[in-house]
Amino acid sequence: MKDWGTWRNRVIVDGKGFYLVDSEGRTYLDGIASMWCNVWGHGQNEVTDAMKKQIEKVAHSTLFGLANEPSTLLAEKLVELAKGMRRVFYSDNGSTAIEASMKMAIQYWKNKGKSQKQQFVALKGGYHGDTIGCMSIGYIDRFFEAYSPLLSKARVHRAPTPLLYKSGGRDENRVVDSCLERTEQILKRYHDKIAALVMESGAQIAGGVVIYPDGYQKRISELCKKYDVLLIIDEIATGFGRLGNMVEYLAQKSNPDIVCLGKALTGGYFPLAATLATERIFDAFLAEYHENKQFYHGHTFTGHPIGCAAALANLELYKKENLMRRIAANHEYIRSRLKEFENNPIVADIRHKGMLAGIELALNGKPIEVLRDRTRLNYFVMTKSLDMGVFLRPLGNIMLMIPPLAIGREELQKIIDVQLKLLGKIQTKLGKTNRVQR
Ligand SMILES: Cc1ncc(COP(=O)(O)O)c(C=O)c1O
Repeated sequence: MKDWGTWRNRVIVDGKGFYLVDSEGRTYLDGIASMWCNVWGHGQNEVTDAMKKQIEKVAHSTLFGLANEPSTLLAEKLVELAKGMRRVFYSDNGSTAIEASMKMAIQYWKNKGKSQKQQFVALKGGYHGDTIGCMSIGYIDRFFEAYSPLLSKARVHRAPTPLLYKSGGRDENRVVDSCLERTEQILKRYHDKIAALVMESGAQIAGGVVIYPDGYQKRISELCKKYDVLLIIDEIATGFGRLGNMVEYLAQKSNPDIVCLGKALTGGYFPLAATLATERIFDAFLAEYHENKQFYHGHTFTGHPIGCAAALANLELYKKENLMRRIAANHEYIRSRLKEFENNPIVADIRHKGMLAGIELALNGKPIEVLRDRTRLNYFVMTKSLDMGVFLRPLGNIMLMIPPLAIGREELQKIIDVQLKLLGKIQTKLGKTNRVQR
């Protein structure tokens, strides 16, 4: 907070393509997709046109008691994409989509006469948002410890996450098997008290770019079925192509009961999120009024027509531009360029899938957090990258690549070049240019 207050003012007043423009006319390539949600860059395109059109018709009309056209059309589109899901509940950001999913899971069991199923299983390092329910199932102590009096940790079991880098050299199969064994022990012992297991789809990002090994999510999904525990999949950050698949849980061959979407849903142009559920979940909320089984949850801006119009145009543009093909090509390009980081003495691990990459920096086996002149690594990366015309935000000692999904090759090249330059600057600051034990 203090650093931010003393920092040079960089007020964004415009967006041009994949660049942001500040009040002094400086431009920054948006290397973090404006908090991982931007798809098409900034400025004019079909998505903004659709939003303008909608605002001229009706800016907002509630879903309490009424429906509206864009939210109905979008719901149809979403269940078409998200195979297995049949119903859509809208909210305004990822955290609220998760809160809704947690309430749905608990009430599902209550409505089914199993009100003792009130607990959750969540993965170590999981991040699901900043509201109280989300923090309770989240696991980033540094973020959440100050708020612990608000959180219901007692109701959350922690399952291990398959991070190979920190697994002491064990091979992938053994790491996955031991994570699943531990998860199964939890489910076996407590399944009659557990409502749902919640996990990010395909990878954790905020928890340190942990890309799940093949088959892991599928096997978790099978365990949930075996122990009659609902599976809530959080695709907020990893859906819509971030990991190279339009619908990540399908690519992972997992079979969730509830799925949360957000971020790229509107191309990053409007705060909109959705909690999707199967028909089985939905049915449990249908009863006579006096039975009190309805879902008591709703937001003023639920199913916002402008957001839904943006999402519809965004998804149309995915098809028209064949975005998934572009992402596949850029995945290969990123992969080939990451080789340039591999032999650097301060690069300890590189994790990459689709349009997400994390480059973990360490020295003598310890994460690099502070440089020799006491500058914090993340502060250094952020300020130096802005000076080089790219906006980057690392995650602690992990340099992060998470560009707008439709980014062009030239811009991607620039982001990677700047990351390489930064790596050189960090080495100079550490006074370590070679012969460092990783
Ligand atoms: C996996 C995941 N879930 C949920 C959220 C919360 O979304 P929001 O910031 O829109 O509340 C985030 C945000 O980064 C996220 O990465």
